[in-house]
Amino acid sequence: MSATVVRLVNGGVSLVLTSRDHHLPVVSHWGTVLAPDDDLTDVLTPQFVSDQTERLIECSLVPEEARGWLGTPGLAGHRSGRSSTHAFTVTGVDADDHRATFHASDAGLDLTLTVGLTAEGVVELSAELTNTGDDPFTLDSLTPALRVPLRARELLDFTGRHLRERSPQRHPFAVGTVRRDSRRGRTGLQSTTLMIAGEPGFGFQEGRTWGLHVAWSGNHTHLAERAHGGEQILAGGECLLPGEVVLAPGESYRTPALLYSFGVGLDELSARYHAWLRRQHEARRPAGRRPRPITLNTWEAVYFAHDLDNLVELAEVAAKVGVERFVLDDGWFGSRRDDTAGLGDWEVSADVWPGGLEPLADAVRGLGMEFGLWVEPEMINLDSDLARAHPEWILGPPGRLPLRVRNQHVLNLAHPDAYAHIASRLSDLVARLGISYLKWDHNRDLIEAAGPQGERLVHAQTLAYYRLLDELHERFGDLEIESCASGGGRIDLGVLTRTDRVWASDCNDPLERQEIQRWTGLLLPPEFIGAHVGPARAHTTGRTHSLTFRAGTAVFGHFGIEWDLRSANAGQLERLTAWVARAKELRGLLATGRTVRTADRDGTRVHGVVGDDRAVFAVVQLASSPTYPTGPVTFPGLDPDARWRVTLDELTPAPDLVWAAEPRVLSGRALAEAGLAAPTLYPEHLAIIHLERSES
Ligand code: DGJ
Repeated sequence: MSATVVRLVNGGVSLVLTSRDHHLPVVSHWGTVLAPDDDLTDVLTPQFVSDQTERLIECSLVPEEARGWLGTPGLAGHRSGRSSTHAFTVTGVDADDHRATFHASDAGLDLTLTVGLTAEGVVELSAELTNTGDDPFTLDSLTPALRVPLRARELLDFTGRHLRERSPQRHPFAVGTVRRDSRRGRTGLQSTTLMIAGEPGFGFQEGRTWGLHVAWSGNHTHLAERAHGGEQILAGGECLLPGEVVLAPGESYRTPALLYSFGVGLDELSARYHAWLRRQHEARRPAGRRPRPITLNTWEAVYFAHDLDNLVELAEVAAKVGVERFVLDDGWFGSRRDDTAGLGDWEVSADVWPGGLEPLADAVRGLGMEFGLWVEPEMINLDSDLARAHPEWILGPPGRLPLRVRNQHVLNLAHPDAYAHIASRLSDLVARLGISYLKWDHNRDLIEAAGPQGERLVHAQTLAYYRLLDELHERFGDLEIESCASGGGRIDLGVLTRTDRVWASDCNDPLERQEIQRWTGLLLPPEFIGAHVGPARAHTTGRTHSLTFRAGTAVFGHFGIEWDLRSANAGQLERLTAWVARAKELRGLLATGRTVRTADRDGTRVHGVVGDDRAVFAVVQLASSPTYPTGPVTFPGLDPDARWRVTLDELTPAPDLVWAAEPRVLSGRALAEAGLAAPTLYPEHLAIIHLERSES
C-alpha cells in the first residue's frame, strides 16, 4: 500500500493529509503543530472489527461510498440516472508548506481539491468538478469535509430570526447528522454562520475547538456528522436546488470556499477568522484601511418621512455631535412612500425630493460628512414602473408569482437585461451623486426562485449578485458597501470579501445587542459590525435604557447613531458627543486588536478588545446577580508578563471601589487569574475599563 503524506503548517496550525493508494486524501491531523518528523502514517489506522468492508473506511475530503463511507456523500450526481457512483484516483499532487492541490479523476469527471493553510491558521478548502464525459452531468451536491478528532464531543451552532440573529445552540456531538441548511436565497437570518465542534465544556479560552464557515451568500449547508464507525466530519457547501447545476461536457462547478478554523478556546478560533478577514480587506483596499467613520443612519429617525428641511436639520445636529457619515435610508426613490410600492424604480422621487438629492448631499458634505444611500437592488414591488414594464424580470415559476414577503418580489439578476438595467441604475446614482457608501439591503427570502421554464435560479442569482458587487468595486474603487438583509440576513465571508461591514440586526436594544454582537463577533471582527445608538426606548422591544448602556454597547462595533437627534435634549447631546469622541479614540484599537470574552457569571459578562499596548473591556450587568456584590471579574487575553494600568472610563458610573479611585498597575496574569472587584451595577448597565501597558 502506498501513501502520499502532505503536511501543511502555518499560523500555528498544522494539517496533515494522507492519500493511500492514490485515493482522495484523508485528514490524519488538524490542530496544534506537530514535530516535523512525527509520522502518523500507520499509527492511527484502526484494527478491523466485525461487519466491516474489506478495506478500512476512508473518510476523505470528499467522502465516497466506494471507499466505505456510508454517511452523507461528498459528491452526489449522475448522468440521467446513470454513472452515479464515483471512486476517484489521485493523478497528481502539487504541494508546498501552505497549500496543496490534489488532482483526481474518475470516469468522465475530474476533481480538483485545493487546500490552503493561511498565515492566520485558517484552512481554505474548495473543490472543483469538471465534466470530461460526453454527456451532461447533473450535480446534486458537492460538500467537501474535514475529519475532526473524536474528542470533539460537543457542537455549537446558531439559529436566528429577525431582531434576534445568531442565537447559540449547544448539543452533544452524537452519532448522526446535525445539518443546518439555509434555503432562503440569501445567507439567512436563521443561518448558522458557524458549525463548531469542541472538547466537552469548551469555552472562550478552554477546550480545543474546530469550526467551519461556508463563505457563500446563497443556499448553503453546514453539517456535523458522526458515523457509527467513529469518524466524524464537518462538511459544507452549496445547497443546490434540483437541476440547478447541470455540467455540459467541458463545464466545471466550483464549491464556495469552506473556511475552517481551529483554536484552543473559541477566542482563538475566532481570532483566526478575524485576522483572515482583515487581510482580505487590506488586499482589497491597497490605499490602506482608514478609521471607520462614525455613521448616522436615518431609518429609525424618520422612517419613510423624507423631507429636505428636517433631514438637513438632523444632519446639522449629527455633525455637531461628531458624525462623519450620513446615510439616507429607504424612501427616497420612485413611489416609495411606504413599503408597498416603488422598489425597482431607482430614480429620485420628484414628489419628495423636488430638487433631487443634491441639496441634501451637498448640505451633508458641506457639514464635513460623507453621504451614503440605501438601496435594495435585487427587489421589486408589483406597484412600480419597473414591474409594469418588465413583469418577465420577476423570479417565479411559470404562470404564478411566489408568495410575497414585505409586499415585494425578487428580480431575476441572471436575466441579462435585468442585470444590465440594475447595474446601470446603480452606477449612475453613485457617479451622479458622488456616493461613497451604499447600504445594500435584501428584505426577503427567495421562495420558488425560478426562471420562465421553472428552472431554479438561486445559484445563478448569487453569482450575479457577486458579479454586480465586483463590477461596482472595479468602477468605484472607494465605494464602501454595507451588507444588510432585514438586519443580519446576509452575513458571511463570501459577501464580506466584497463589502465593508454588516448591519448585524434591526434591533438596536443594547441588551439584545450584547448577545447579537457577541455571537456575530465570533466570525466578524468588531469594526465590521454596524452598531448604532438608538433612542432611549428601543423601537423593536419597547425596553428603555440609559445612554451609557446604549453607547457602551455600540462602541464595541462600528459605531453609529439611529435616533432622531432633533428630539434629544442638550444634556443627551452633550453625553452623546462624548461617546462619539470615545468611539473615535477606540476605533483604532477595535480594528486591530483581538476580541476576548468570558463566560457569563451571575448575570455579569466581561468582553473586550486587546491590543499590544492597550485594551478596553466592558463589564456588563445583563441581569441582577444572585450574589451582592457580584465579586471579582477577570480579564483574559492580556500579555501575562506585562504590567497594565487600570482605569475606569469616566463616561461610565463611578463605583465605590479602591481600584477605581486610585488607578492600579497589575500584571496581565493577575488580571486574568485574580481579576478586579466588579463595579456593582444596576441590571442592564455597564462599565468600561481601560488598560494601558505600563513600564512601572
Ligand atoms: C431593513 C433594514 O435592516 C433597516 O435598517 C432599514 O434599512 C429597512 N430595511 C428599510 O426598509
